[in-house]
Amino acid sequence: MNVLVIGGGGREHAIAWKINQSRIEHNLFCLPGNPGTAVFATNIPGKVTDFALVKETVLSKAIDLVVVGPEVPLVEGITDFLAAEAPAVKVIGPSKKGAMLEGSKDFAKDFMTRHGIPTARYATFTAESYDEACAFLGGMEPPYVLKADGLAAGKGVLIVDDLQQAKALLKDIFDGKFGDAGAKVVIEQFLDGIEMSAFVLTDGKDYLLLPEAKDYKRIGDGDTGLNTGGMGSVSPVCFADEAFMDKVRSRIIEPTIAGIAKDSLDYKGFIFFGLMNCGGDPYVIEYNVRMGDPETESVMTRIKSDLLEHLIACGEGRLADEEIVISPDAAVTVIIASGGYPEEYKSHYQIMGNASKGAHVFHCGTAYEDGFIVSAGGRVLAVTANAPDIAQAREDAYDAVGNIFFTDCYYRNDIACDLLSLEGGDED
Ligand code: AMP
Ligand code: GLY
Repeated sequence: MNVLVIGGGGREHAIAWKINQSRIEHNLFCLPGNPGTAVFATNIPGKVTDFALVKETVLSKAIDLVVVGPEVPLVEGITDFLAAEAPAVKVIGPSKKGAMLEGSKDFAKDFMTRHGIPTARYATFTAESYDEACAFLGGMEPPYVLKADGLAAGKGVLIVDDLQQAKALLKDIFDGKFGDAGAKVVIEQFLDGIEMSAFVLTDGKDYLLLPEAKDYKRIGDGDTGLNTGGMGSVSPVCFADEAFMDKVRSRIIEPTIAGIAKDSLDYKGFIFFGLMNCGGDPYVIEYNVRMGDPETESVMTRIKSDLLEHLIACGEGRLADEEIVISPDAAVTVIIASGGYPEEYKSHYQIMGNASKGAHVFHCGTAYEDGFIVSAGGRVLAVTANAPDIAQAREDAYDAVGNIFFTDCYYRNDIACDLLSLEGGDED
């Protein structure tokens, strides 16, 4: 079994790390991978959107299974491309049409509405309907939520308290603030609650529920400062108890998969449900057609069963026969970033030190330079620790983080702190 993981961040390192533990004999390739995956897999340099290179790799390495990490190649249609150009290979990642659940917020909202999936009330507008959009805003309560329809590298959502500011921002978006991604704008009701993420692997008919997680998007302690790709994660999420997760399954996951089948979206892959817990009821904030980063680093370390076996079954449409086994232990992931991120930052700093206490160090933005591993991105490393409870996992993760250093490195000190006071009782 030859497996190719597409992507080169912490998410792909964690997926590849988990696949590498499989009892199924396999050769693992990563395109492009990173210095972390190079330890156990063959890295193939190149871009995740270079479809010709992906095809060449699939054919020359006789790849049986492709796992697509990031959303961009999915939204650009890599799965359909491989189905046409290399039909023997199984791909974990939805078709271009299925990837619109992430690629177009308007498509996703329409999908949820048609299939009765709870989500915030909304309407979609274009530059031509700016006046109607302003009237719609006027009829809503603040805060106002504006979302660019297309992919905007995680920056396309604006939440503002002031109506005039909301109207001005709407104009900015139509004037090109987010490029083509803002040609349409979804305006929606603000959902007040606690956020969490649920993840499934689906073959379009059945699904495996992966461990849930919570991520920490803001750069600063206490959820302050600019939004980032995510500065840490924790799993399990104690308020996602059995009763809540039953609602997530019956009101959200199962109707979503039934909707995917009904609409013939041709979907084999992960679905990441961004959820808001509003007084005990789950609402969908967004769909992503991939795993989250840095949620994956926490999630993968809690899966005890054989991920490769699950992925093969998914590719062959046999997920009904699979059973996922999840560790009751908690996982906490702390991102070590470059000082300055998410704005300007410097790279090429040599990374020194070693993790401790069996913590995992996943590479997010690193490179080899002159025989050393150096920083090469905003988010540089994801350090994950597992322990019987969140408090211990947190302590172990921060112990490990304390043993790693590079110039100007930065991390949040409060990852998972908010869950400590809530922890206790049954999880999972
Ligand atoms: P998204 O890119 O759709 O995940 O939005 C980014 C972030 O904005 C989410 O993680 C939420 O924290 C917040 N957000 C998005 N939509 C809403 C909403 N309707 N109500 C409250 N917060 C929201
Ligand atoms: N951590 C959020 C994301 O991957 O979109």
